[in-house]
Amino acid sequence: MIYLDNAATTLKKPQTVIDAVITAMNTAGNASRGAHGSSLTASRMVYDARVKIAEFFGCKRPDHVVFTANSTEALNIAINGVLSKGDHVITTDLEHNSVLRPLYRLEDEGVIKLSVVKADKLGRVNYEDFATLLQPNTKAIVCTHASNLTGNLLDLNQIRHEGILLIVDASQTAGSVPIDMEALGIDILCFTGHKGLMGPQGTGGMCIREGVEIRPFKVGGSGIWSYERHQPEEMPTRLEAGTLNSHGIAGLSAAVDYLNLVGLETIANKECSLARMFYEGVKTIEGVTVYGDFSDWNRTAIVTLNLHDWDSAITADELAETYGIATRAGAHCAPRMHQALGTVEQGAVRFSFSWFNTEEEVQTAIEAVKELAE
Ligand code: ALA
Repeated sequence: MIYLDNAATTLKKPQTVIDAVITAMNTAGNASRGAHGSSLTASRMVYDARVKIAEFFGCKRPDHVVFTANSTEALNIAINGVLSKGDHVITTDLEHNSVLRPLYRLEDEGVIKLSVVKADKLGRVNYEDFATLLQPNTKAIVCTHASNLTGNLLDLNQIRHEGILLIVDASQTAGSVPIDMEALGIDILCFTGHKGLMGPQGTGGMCIREGVEIRPFKVGGSGIWSYERHQPEEMPTRLEAGTLNSHGIAGLSAAVDYLNLVGLETIANKECSLARMFYEGVKTIEGVTVYGDFSDWNRTAIVTLNLHDWDSAITADELAETYGIATRAGAHCAPRMHQALGTVEQGAVRFSFSWFNTEEEVQTAIEAVKELAE
């Protein structure tokens, strides 16, 4: 199989990630729940991972790195933890349902008012719209760092506003695009471990700027202050009720080591050059429609297209069954983006590339698209 569905999850992981998970499964007790050797092994490993991740994303405080199961959980904690009755929030058409649904729920419950920055037919926003939509009670801007449908980045430098929380969904960029949350003015960075970071599924987290207060979304076991009725105030315990996924975190930690060893720039360059090769190979094929803005290759390694007027599921199924090429079709949990691109009925077929893909695989995919289109 040629796996080109890396924006959904990277299938091939560094061997060191797999080894780290196995080692942790043999050695890690419950982190912060004991003083015996295996519990301490887990606690130390988890702390070490916090330090690495803080450094990786430019988060000043390792104790403000909170582990979650994925970015959806991180976004739910962030959105529900900072917004209160009467707040106004700005988001964009580019969002995944992991941003939209938590916001819609608060809007439907009458807690917040929501404004959405529109995208054009190429999936681009007008950055001036963020300032236009600002209200005196605007509490936060919640937006993705890159569309999971087109791969286009949002320029956070043009989005952030003094005094307004910037909550960023980095699902598509963590591990593929360098992120320095201090330099970008990000208050809460939500990430998943299993995509560009090349860690295990079930890992992810959030990096929180010092001084940003988040009410816990879930409360429960913490390993400390057990006789208190309330969740402890200390970070990161405050936001991490329940046993951590130490086995997964061990894999994520090894994944960050791998990215640091190879170099994020090297990885980003290769992923983008594979995507570019594919884009150049398919863009002029008759019957192919490519979506998104390709005027700038500062983007993620995604090329999304349709063949003729075929349902995207038919195209993806042909690619899988006839050519052994794995892509993702359908709506990609990004309803507003499909509305902007005009692909609600057809869906779209997303090709997404990783560090482990090869030029030969890209060439095969181009030939497959050509043959199918004909
Ligand atoms: N959010 C993932 C995607 O874009 C699953 O495919």
